[in-house]
Amino acid sequence: MDIKLLNQVEKESIGERQPLPETYLRLSDDEMDARIAAAKATLGSRVVILGHHYQRDEVIKFADFTGDSLKLARAAATKHEAEYIVFCGVHFMAESADILRAPHQKVVLPDLAAGCSMADMAAPDQLEMAWREMEQMGVRTDVVENGRQGMIPVTYINSSAAIKAFVGAHGGIVCTSTNAAAVMTWAWERGDKLIMLPDQHLGRNTGWKMGVPLDQMVVWDPNEMWGGLDAEQLKTAKLVLWKGHCSVHTRFTTQQITAFRKQYPQGKVIAHPECTLDVVQASDDSGSTEYIINAVRDSAPGTTWAVATEVHLVNRLTQELAQDKKIVTLDPFGCLCSTMFRVSPNHLLWILEGLVEGTVHNQITVPDDQKHDARLALDRMLQIKN
Ligand code: 13P
Ligand code: SF4
Repeated sequence: MDIKLLNQVEKESIGERQPLPETYLRLSDDEMDARIAAAKATLGSRVVILGHHYQRDEVIKFADFTGDSLKLARAAATKHEAEYIVFCGVHFMAESADILRAPHQKVVLPDLAAGCSMADMAAPDQLEMAWREMEQMGVRTDVVENGRQGMIPVTYINSSAAIKAFVGAHGGIVCTSTNAAAVMTWAWERGDKLIMLPDQHLGRNTGWKMGVPLDQMVVWDPNEMWGGLDAEQLKTAKLVLWKGHCSVHTRFTTQQITAFRKQYPQGKVIAHPECTLDVVQASDDSGSTEYIINAVRDSAPGTTWAVATEVHLVNRLTQELAQDKKIVTLDPFGCLCSTMFRVSPNHLLWILEGLVEGTVHNQITVPDDQKHDARLALDRMLQIKN
């Protein structure tokens, strides 16, 4: 099923997101395409457009590189020819690119309102407080002996630069959905316990796959005193999971899997690890957006798949592989990441024509006092081969 998303209402309300000049509203699709292509051609190698897999078709078709968070972070760290990196994704991705870019480059996010609700679930003051409270509860967060730490912070790349800076300054590391297991192995080689934030589900799914029993995982609720835990629970835990989640991926349910399997007994289910543990366990496979795309593409002709991730990615797979595979979204209503969707072709056009005229709109600049430590955490991750 190809779920239609870009309807007339959306087109008419485009200027209600990050406001655009009147001249960028109500353009025909053909004019928009032609002008984006012309501005991109004029800029030539001065611009590189990075596109996350959840971007809409009208935007991603202009991307020079597409990928999951890890692939795009690596691109930002290595594609140093262009003057401008236009990041068609969400805010934390553009921030990571700004931390990893070369000094002469500028990073731009086409709509500044394109955030990530999960990243917003971990604020730096909450993490500082958690750190202090864990110490008060008797868990050493600093070096205990032989260079080993009592607690290593691991942050999902879906977090603010300020969180990454805290993590970098406290011996920790960033992970993505691709390398979470490799990163957690790195962290356990250096510390007794891990705190994984902000996504409890990626942490739980990865910990489970690595053989950590559920009774050695606890959930730290940043809105509760002492994280809602007692000292004994914290002391016995090997993995502390921050109480955060993705509102898109937690919509998938095991009931949807049961319904799909009833309709397609030979069908397979593949889920993103931001889904809940029961959904991932009831699926045949799980992995990052890039992993999902490759697994579905590489499957045998005739395979039917239900895919539990953002609907634009699923729609594209449905169309690309229509000849010999049936691909459906696991949620019959399709799960949309509304913040990824904010990057519209209108915003992309405004950015590119601005650059042609010498105006940089929406530059993302991570403050210098966060950059150094956040980079430590990102570099530790990028050095891991996975
Ligand atoms: P990937 O790194 O797997 O692309 O995931 C990013 C994301 O935000 C998924 O919701
Ligand atoms: Fe954030 Fe979820 Fe959207 Fe990914 S899908 S960017 S985690 S809100």
